Amino acid sequence: MNELIISPSVLSLDYANTKEQIALLNQSKAKWLHFDVMDGHFVPNISFGPDILKAFSKSTDLVLDVHLMVSDPVFYAPIFIKAGADMVVFHTEALDNDVKKIAALLKDIKAQNVMCGFTVKPGTPIVQFESLLPLVDMVLIMSVEPGFGGQSFMENQLSKVAWLKEKRESLGLDYRIEIDGGINGETYKKALEAGCDTLVAGSYVFKNDIIQTIEGLLQ
Ligand code: DX5
Ligand code: ZN
Repeated sequence: MNELIISPSVLSLDYANTKEQIALLNQSKAKWLHFDVMDGHFVPNISFGPDILKAFSKSTDLVLDVHLMVSDPVFYAPIFIKAGADMVVFHTEALDNDVKKIAALLKDIKAQNVMCGFTVKPGTPIVQFESLLPLVDMVLIMSVEPGFGGQSFMENQLSKVAWLKEKRESLGLDYRIEIDGGINGETYKKALEAGCDTLVAGSYVFKNDIIQTIEGLLQ
């Protein structure tokens, strides 16, 4: 079984106190940092570009888990890899859910020695991507519509987690199963029960005591 990893989403970080907040993350039990890249086109919000990721990579040794919510992941994946991404996850919908196109980008990311994965919006079925599972280090299940922090957890997405867990076992694979959106002190239990081993948490971590909240998710 994979070790449980918490990946705080810096979308919710208090940017007026960036230095202090990164110092707290570095002292915490988080092993990863989740970095939400939004292009204002794939989702109706704009977040950060590669220079901000570069600044994070100078300030922390945590694994930089990059979630691309962009319409052109083929163009942007190499840019964020150059900026320091350790893991790149992109949306299948951005590549028309075309398994061949998705496989090609996963292989390109891997060829650059970076961990790779795909993710689906809540309305996108996952079983169509079974053939991609041997190619990935992680699959990310969105438990909110991508675009904004602070939304409510969609419990009905947990059936995708259960399917991924079952497939991982039956196919003898070892990818991580990450969940993103609406994770808090209650919902995380359901996510763990369903089979997640990697929890993204944004507003719950940054609106509370960073160190204690991360520790609580590991209980
Ligand atoms: C939503 C992002 C999430 C977001 C989660 O589009 O992918 O990573 O930061 O925020 P919370 O944990 O507040 O739902
Ligand atoms: Zn995210």
